[in-house]
Amino acid sequence: FNVPAPVNEPVKSYAPGTPEREATLAAYKEMFNNKIDVPLYINGEEIRTGNTVTMTPPHDHQHVVGTYHNADKNHIDTAISGALEARTKWANLPWEQRAAIFLKAADLIAGPYRAKINAATMIAQSKTVHQAEIDAACELIDFLRFNVKYMSDIYKEQPASNPGVWNRVEHRPLEGFIYAITPFNFTAIAANLPASAVMMGNVCVWKPSDSQIYSAKVIVDIFKEAGVPDGVINVVYGDPVMITDTVLASPDFAGIHFTGSTHVFKDIWKKIGNNIHNYKTYPKIVGETGGKDFIIAHPSAKPQQVATAISRGAFEFQGQKCSAASRVYLPKSTAAETLALVKKDVESFKMGSPEDLSNFITAVIHEGSFDKLASYIDQAKKDTDAEIFVGGGYDKSKGYFIEPTVIVTTDPQYTTMHTELFGPVVTVYIYEDNNWADTLKLVDSTSEYALTGAVFSQCRYALDEATKALENCAGNFYINDKPTGAVVGQQPFGGARASGTNDKAGSILNLLRWVSPRLIKETL
Ligand code: ALA
Repeated sequence: FNVPAPVNEPVKSYAPGTPEREATLAAYKEMFNNKIDVPLYINGEEIRTGNTVTMTPPHDHQHVVGTYHNADKNHIDTAISGALEARTKWANLPWEQRAAIFLKAADLIAGPYRAKINAATMIAQSKTVHQAEIDAACELIDFLRFNVKYMSDIYKEQPASNPGVWNRVEHRPLEGFIYAITPFNFTAIAANLPASAVMMGNVCVWKPSDSQIYSAKVIVDIFKEAGVPDGVINVVYGDPVMITDTVLASPDFAGIHFTGSTHVFKDIWKKIGNNIHNYKTYPKIVGETGGKDFIIAHPSAKPQQVATAISRGAFEFQGQKCSAASRVYLPKSTAAETLALVKKDVESFKMGSPEDLSNFITAVIHEGSFDKLASYIDQAKKDTDAEIFVGGGYDKSKGYFIEPTVIVTTDPQYTTMHTELFGPVVTVYIYEDNNWADTLKLVDSTSEYALTGAVFSQCRYALDEATKALENCAGNFYINDKPTGAVVGQQPFGGARASGTNDKAGSILNLLRWVSPRLIKETL
């Protein structure tokens, strides 16, 4: 069978009077005011361990919206054995049956669960309704539908045969189970990491971020209703080191699908290395980690275009996108004009709780993140080689609110030009117009990470120079556009260097990591 190419899920407007606005506000109110109790989900069973943790929205941290139950080591062992028991039947299910389950999951999100998954993302991950719609609804629906299409393409692809010989490839799942560790900042990424591996016939132990457990619960319910069998996806919460160490100690650990911080990923990689003699198979290691994403403008760039890319690329989603612009290089001749336009745009952003749909920016994810951002802002206020150009305020009395902040520095090596902050703070360095080539070298030499980057110019030679000079600095490289907002099926997403293994989420390349093909040659 062929799966027809899907179209991207249209983003709904949430304008006053629209049914989606009413439904989402009603879901938000209901879920905000009625506490949820989230169990572990192992082998199709909900397990309440009694070892509970309270969940509070980042924009209203004194308000409890529910609890979740932490696992101990025995629960992790049970999740692993549950996954392994489910494996043979799931792996042998014809792929069309697996496709139907995930297409149904996409339809459930697009329809009956849309308001609920968006509201969970707004409440527990502090996203505005538009941010939630783009992430938890549209991007997740797209991941599921496009990956089903890519899956069908993989199974279709077969080697040549000759008269007398029939060669064929079985794209088998990995021998063992997959471990998914997922982030708070995208509900879509969180769901896609287990789903893409499982779609290819694998079974999985999934540990979501503590801050994303509310929407993870909604996803679990959707997958169950769509028909994912018991044991195929097992969801656990708790001490991350204990969970990871228990998982990695299993001889059946066959791969990790990770999105999170660079240092955690490197630690896991080392642990996998230390356990390598215990495994039945070399585990697949797929990870997307940090970023220090850049915008560089040539003197020929249009100031308005650059300014919009800065204010949107750095501050939408509270700057909590791995792709968010966080360092900017502007030419002296247009810097003042560009920065004035950035200021004008940023000062129009309304910040506050997601239940007020007119807010453009909400709180950052937790106190740890707030404190880190506030300390870098304070330092910039003191440093002589840095100046706060816009913002600089913060307040955690009710929620973890950080004003969108632009720091301008005279030092291209200034701390916030290379340290990942993961929040609404961007740092700008102004270079001499005749130093374009050196500035490109500077960007390359300070790109420890290589996730996203954007170049702006009206000069084709300058664009060509930048495209070549920065070839290793960004897995997703944008020309005359902001470095965020990759759309599934259009801009496969992932970075290199310290940003990850560049296995492009939402593409056939990613799905191919979750198979262990067997070639069969038969003489006829
Ligand atoms: N894929 C998301 C983006 O491109 C993170 O902004």
